[in-house]
Amino acid sequence: MTAVVWILNGPNLGRLGKREPDVYGTASYDDLVAACAATAGELGLSVDVRQTDDEATYVGWLHDAADGGVDALVLNPAAWTHTSVAVRDAAAALTAPYVEVHLSNPLAREEFRHVSYTAAGALGVIAGFGLDSYRLALKALAARI
Ligand code: DQA
Repeated sequence: MTAVVWILNGPNLGRLGKREPDVYGTASYDDLVAACAATAGELGLSVDVRQTDDEATYVGWLHDAADGGVDALVLNPAAWTHTSVAVRDAAAALTAPYVEVHLSNPLAREEFRHVSYTAAGALGVIAGFGLDSYRLALKALAARI
């Protein structure tokens, strides 16, 4: 059966391309969705790519994933990575494996980005490769599910 992977993007990622292009690159959010869909197609995965600026919605998606039907997740919680115990707790309740991704490398940026509340429960973290962070995460998950 085709494995189902949810790719959940947090705040401001919908503005990719327009937002701080020197940090996040010029690819748009639509480009991100297309890159994920293309990689998933190559790997034989079914992907559902979502973005929200609303923390409660993000937590709700994690609850839905924890309730079943999702084989793996790619999480870019964006700013909530560094701030949200709620997102961390919801991610900790997942039984499916997840990879945390970042377009930029938070460890090479401001100190407040050096802490990730969400990485502890992840299979691994891929950061700093732009859209390739997502492609690499899907490849890593495809090899394990
Ligand atoms: C980000 C890194 C975070 O520090 C930042 O708040 C984001 C995007 C990234 O993908 O590089 O919004 O998660």
